[in-house]
Amino acid sequence: MKSNSFGRYFGITSFGESHGPAIGVVIEDVKSGIEFPLAEIQKALDSRKPGRKQFSSTRKEEDKIVILSGIFEGKTTGMPICLVVYNKDIRSEDYEHLKNLFRPGHADYTYFKKFKIYDYRGGGRASGRETISRVAASGLVEDLLRDIDINCYPVQIGKFIVKEYDLNFQNDLYWYDKSNFGELQNYLDSIQKRGDSVGGIVEVKIENLPAGFGDPVFEKLDANLSKAILSIGSVKGIEFGDGFNLANLKGSEANDQINKNGFLSNHSGGILGGISTGQNLLFRFVVKPTSSINILQRTITKNGKEVSFKSQGRHDTCIIPRIIPVAEAMIKLVIADAISYQKLINDNKLDMNDYREAIDKIDEDLLIALNRRKEISELIGKFKKERNIGINDFEREIKLLKNLRKKVKTWKLDEDFVEKIWKIIIEESKKNQ
Ligand SMILES: Cc1cc2nc3c(=O)[nH]c(=O)nc-3n(C[C@H](O)[C@H](O)[C@H](O)COP(=O)(O)O)c2cc1C
Repeated sequence: MKSNSFGRYFGITSFGESHGPAIGVVIEDVKSGIEFPLAEIQKALDSRKPGRKQFSSTRKEEDKIVILSGIFEGKTTGMPICLVVYNKDIRSEDYEHLKNLFRPGHADYTYFKKFKIYDYRGGGRASGRETISRVAASGLVEDLLRDIDINCYPVQIGKFIVKEYDLNFQNDLYWYDKSNFGELQNYLDSIQKRGDSVGGIVEVKIENLPAGFGDPVFEKLDANLSKAILSIGSVKGIEFGDGFNLANLKGSEANDQINKNGFLSNHSGGILGGISTGQNLLFRFVVKPTSSINILQRTITKNGKEVSFKSQGRHDTCIIPRIIPVAEAMIKLVIADAISYQKLINDNKLDMNDYREAIDKIDEDLLIALNRRKEISELIGKFKKERNIGINDFEREIKLLKNLRKKVKTWKLDEDFVEKIWKIIIEESKKNQ
């Protein structure tokens, strides 16, 4: 099962553990000749690294991106791209006391129950460091996203709520409310001194996303965004548009009515039937309080013995500032995937490369279908042989040809051409029998 891979058309595979040699990502199906955006990717990685933001872990990592494959003379070659970041600030001895117990709020218990073995150092694979791979990969989709603006910002941290928005107010917490920022900092300070942590709610606003992105029924845009966001450690819930508050509204209040100029409201968050409406795409997600806290808590050892445990390692008082770049990365990957798919079915605004990509995909599908046909005709041959049934069935062939001619007329295809291909296929399948 490819549980560490993500995306249909822009596929990535993430690998590595918090205290292993490196964290990395393999990206496949990237077009050749794209200028590799090393500086942008490095910038995005810097924004999520520990030891930089206020109230965040003091682990010091350079998080310098290293290219192992797929890039030549600064450009993508069309081959799989492998990017890694080596783990440097590994103080594995900090985690020695965790060897045999399950830290409350972490994935230790479930990983052990599932795999019977787990890398307890810094959370292993369940560590926030895994998200380096997502942020690195998302740097490659920027050219697809063009004018689409993605904004993620907290609307709640602990008990503090953003009431007044000043989009020019810049700070490490991405907090837009100048009026209570000082108070919020004091609050986080006091939480940190107590060794405790807080969570919060992040709001996402995606602007300039045209209508038509997302696919029925298992590839809905909201379903894919939910999976992407909920795959980030410590995210526990998501709601689109008015979300859970829709339960309090009547249909007459919740429907987004339409006039000739467009929608009159946006209770649905810019998605209907899993497809973008062209309005702002709006959703919120909740981040739980950081699991590692310097407060004594109850847990058990691997042998089931009850013990008290207090985290001694380095941890974030509030994880939100480090989650935001990761959420942005996951949103980019989901939208890039939806755009890539849309390009294959939408004949608007396509360039030569897009046309070629679409036709190559169709040729590949034809080959897959031919191969499947060959396998089935072999099975039919075996079936007939076992029962002494002759290979030729002219009555059936006449019927099939009649049907084919009807379809050719309906779709206005070239009759001679289709018949020629059909006859070749039928003769070939008799050979396979
Ligand atoms: C970027 C990032 C950084 C994180 N840093 C920490 C951390 O310093 N301390 C901590 O306890 N959890 C941290 N986490 C959260 C854990 O990875 C996560 O809560 C834990 O594995 C349990 O997983 P779950 O919340 O998905 O159930 C971080 C998550 C992310 C995405």
